[in-house]
Parts: sequence; structure tokens; C-alpha cells
Amino acid sequence: MARSILELRGLGKEVWRGIEAADYVRTERESWNDRMSPLDEAVNLLDLEEPARRVLPRMAYDYYASGAADEITLRDNRAAFDRRRIAYRVLAGVGERDLATTVLGERVAMPVLIAPTAFHKLAHPEGEAATARGAGAAGTVMVLSTLSNTPVEEVLAAATGPVWFQLYVYRDRGATRALVERVEAAGCRALVLTVDAPLLGRRERDVRNRFHLPDGLAVANLLAEGYGALPAAETGSGLAGYVSDLLDPNLTWDDLDWLAATTKLPLLVKGIVRPDDAVRAAEHGVAGIVVSNHGGRQLDTSIATLDALPPIAGALARRPGPAPELLLDGGVRRGTDVLKALALGARAVLVGRPVLWGLALGGAEGVARVLAMLRTELDLAMALAGARTVGGITPDLVVATA
Ligand code: FNR
Repeated sequence: MARSILELRGLGKEVWRGIEAADYVRTERESWNDRMSPLDEAVNLLDLEEPARRVLPRMAYDYYASGAADEITLRDNRAAFDRRRIAYRVLAGVGERDLATTVLGERVAMPVLIAPTAFHKLAHPEGEAATARGAGAAGTVMVLSTLSNTPVEEVLAAATGPVWFQLYVYRDRGATRALVERVEAAGCRALVLTVDAPLLGRRERDVRNRFHLPDGLAVANLLAEGYGALPAAETGSGLAGYVSDLLDPNLTWDDLDWLAATTKLPLLVKGIVRPDDAVRAAEHGVAGIVVSNHGGRQLDTSIATLDALPPIAGALARRPGPAPELLLDGGVRRGTDVLKALALGARAVLVGRPVLWGLALGGAEGVARVLAMLRTELDLAMALAGARTVGGITPDLVVATA
């Protein structure tokens, strides 16, 4: 029969201490259980990758995490942020801060968007629909990939904020045009043409894993055109086979004009790292340029995006006429990274992999949490750097280290 505490107290100090300790352990364990969610435990974006790796099948984790070849550019995208330091401003009256801005006229709660990444149902059953809701909760734009597991119409139906569409041009121009029409009808607000993937970069982890889509998952936007399935990956990455079979490696600047004439939507190009290409894109009238190397997944040892940004911003500033808006992605993980990219000429940044980790760990809520953490960090970075608004993030705030 259980004895009361008072009775037990009578048994002497040693027993009482034992009960106290057991009690402490139990309460701690219970509250640990309450706090167990890695999403709640995460203090920053980098904390999410390891728990996501644990919940994801190996093939999916490797597909999301990997870069091309030796993954030098993958690492250098991050290292480039660490090569810059912030020369912060003091006594700037930063008690009230405003992180809101516009991107191509679209009002966003902060200068951080969701980069287009393929195959979200490898992370979560709700896939891209959950990602769109996460973006909406954070008050920002989701860029939906052509290679989504959810049809664009379904994503837009679930979305609570603006969605842009990332386009790959298929050899079959009729299918490409039909896709653009569907994207417009569904309500996407801009078209982002990816120009750094005439072929797929060699992601050796995917080659080793024979990357493929599990049964039941497809390139949902292209099902109707007959391009919904990846080829069997007997010898390597099934995605590499899909891209080389179906996407057009022959795109030129003329095709940009073709696309601009095909769509009413504002057009961005994604994947530019050279000032001359940026100027050429501006001459072709694009509304925006995403300085990107595809998160180090295409040409390994290509230049880090933060290193590419200042010369591009300079070349566009020297050119007469309206300049396209500049965005940047690749390795953005910290609020200070966002601040540095904005100081060096970006209007906003996009985040890729951390969104997938958040999605894997908590669906829409996980995505929202990733964006909320980054927002909190950016807010603090702005306060400590003496920038009350996004417009106050000026080039003099950032210096290069040797
Ligand atoms: C991508 N990226 C990409 N880009 C694109 O234009 N279309 C796509 O379908 C994809 N798919 C894709 C899948 C996965 C798993 C990753 C990680 C990336 C590139 C993406 O838009 C972006 O450029 C990088 O992810 C940005 O780098 P970080 O933030 O992931 O370091």
C-alpha cells in the first residue's frame, strides 16, 4: 500500500532525499517530453538539419542536402557570408523597427522569400501546399518549383500568401506554354525562369542512391503532358535522366524574349552570377534577377553568390534605365546573412534547404517556424547594426575580411 509523504518523512532524511530526487527526475523527464519536438528545441536554422536527417529516408535527405561533385560551392556559399563583417552604427534610435518591404511591387513582411525546391512530398505528405501555408503565415512569397509533387492549382488553393512560379522550359514548347497558361490561371504573380540548369549538375549522392520518386509521387504539374514520371534510375540519378531527356538545353537569350511574349506575368531570371549576364538580362527587360548558383547543386567550384553580388549590383547601377530588382540565394541561414546580402545590393533573399528541414519536422508550422526564427535574427541584427528599416541597410555596414 502506498504510504503518504508524511509517513515517509518519518522514515528519515535519506529516504526523503531519495523521493525528492526521483520526483525531480520524473518532472524533468515529463517536461523534457513536452519539449521534445526538435522544432521547439531549435534555436536557429542550422539546428534543424540534424533532426530532419533523422526523420527523412536517406535518399530524400541526400537529395535535399547535397551539392554537385565535391560540394565546394555548397560550402562556399556559406563561407562567403563569414568572410564579411558588419561595421555597425550606434546611437541610431532603433527602438522601433520595420522589416517590411516590397519585391516586384509585392508587399512582404520581411525581405526573405522561399526559394523554389523540387519534390516537397519527400519531406511531408502535404508537400507544397503546406509550404505555401507556412510562407503565408510568415507574410512572404513562396516560389513554387516546376518540379513540385502538388499541382500548381492545388498549391494556390491552399496558399494564404503570394506564390510565384519557377519555370523550367521543356523541349516540348507546347507543353511549356500550356504550363505557363495554367500557372497564370491559377493565380501565380510572377514567373522565375531558371537559367543555370541546361543539364543537371552531377550530385554524386543522388547517383549513388539511384535517386527516384517513390511510388505515388510525380512531377505533378506535367502529368497531363505525359512528363509526370522520372525514368527508372538504374544507373544513376533519375532526375538527371529526366532533365536531359525533357528539358531544353539549347535555351538562349532569344528564348527569354519568347517567354516574355508568352506571359503577362513579370519575369525574373534565376541563376546569374556574372555582371555581363545581369546587364544582358536587364537589356531584355526582365523585372528581376536572382543571383544564384542553385545552392551549389549545378557547377561545382562556381563563385559563391555573395561574392557575385557586388559586381552585379555595380554593373546594373552604372547602366542607364530602370534596373531589375536583385535577389540572392545560397547559404542564407542567419539574420546577419540577410543583412549582408541587402547591404551589398539585394532587395531580398531566398532560402532553400532550411525550409525543407522545417517542412520535414512540422509541415506548414515547421516552415513558418523557420521563417520566424530568421525574422527574429534579422530584427536583432538590424537593431544592433543601427538600421531601423530595410532601407537603412546600406553598403557601408559591411566590410570584407582578408
Ligand atoms: C533546389 N533548387 C531549385 N531551383 C530551381 O530553380 N528549381 C528547382 O526545382 C530547384 N530544386 C531544388 C531542390 C532542392 C532540394 C534544393 C536544395 C534546391 C535551388 C534553390 O532554388 C536555391 O537556389 C537554393 O536551394 C538556395 O540555396 P540554399 O538556401 O538551399 O543554400
